[in-house]
Amino acid sequence: MTMQLIHTISECRTARAKLGRVAFVPTMGALHAGHVSLIKRARELADHVVVSIFVNPTQFGPTEDFTRYPRPISADLEKCQLHGVGMVFNPEPAEIYPANSTDLVVDIPSLTTVLEGKHRPGHFKGVCQVVAKLFNIVRPDVACFGQKDFQQLRVLQAMTRALDFPIEIVACPTLRESDGLAMSSRNQYLSAEDRKRALCISGGLFAAQREFSKGVNQTNRLVATIQKIIIEQHVNIDYVAAVDPVTLKNVDVASASTILAVAARAGVTRLIDNVSAGY
Ligand code: PAF
Repeated sequence: MTMQLIHTISECRTARAKLGRVAFVPTMGALHAGHVSLIKRARELADHVVVSIFVNPTQFGPTEDFTRYPRPISADLEKCQLHGVGMVFNPEPAEIYPANSTDLVVDIPSLTTVLEGKHRPGHFKGVCQVVAKLFNIVRPDVACFGQKDFQQLRVLQAMTRALDFPIEIVACPTLRESDGLAMSSRNQYLSAEDRKRALCISGGLFAAQREFSKGVNQTNRLVATIQKIIIEQHVNIDYVAAVDPVTLKNVDVASASTILAVAARAGVTRLIDNVSAGY
């Protein structure tokens, strides 16, 4: 089947109306194997897969990488075609945010002011804004998000419930390179040297998991283990935290589902990763 490439909201609505059950994979493009795994999962969940490719300006801070964020659209479209995507929605920023558009804020402060929210003020307002709009435009039955962006997943689950979107949110596992680095569109910014040093992030998380499996459940010890491994590589930590998977609040005693989360900078590249304390 040929894939439809759609740029406007009205075309998207018309095309969607002809489809039955739709699984949606929202992306900012620069698709890698992690995105492909979301597409594969989406294909298992519905007859039709819709992917959006939109580098959303409202989720980037003023000093962040919006302008240099990779936009390899031809390669992205090839990957979508290859993996059986039925429709790609690739709007221009002005289509999503017309010049006179209302300054809408969708926010869940209890979940968005911690972890990433502290370091990227306004980030989740942008994510919620665009995903709420995309949900209304695409009207999927199910939407797939990666666990690598664990906080985003939690925020969007909560938003979906709070706004009564009739959409099932499906969490998909983080894909890793063979050496453990979590796949991310931002990995391509890393120099060879920083790429090696960045391994301390997943390395620290895995070491904490091993400790937890041996019975260490005080999160200050697990966090200290992660910090030590990262600092040794001269990678700059934004945060290392052990949080409840639902409330995202810090916990003192870990259980298997406790999320160990890291944000750190290898050179100028900011990376995030997380695991649950139990394997
Ligand atoms: O995870 C991403 O790529 C983005 O935050 C998303 C969900 C597509 C919203 O722009």
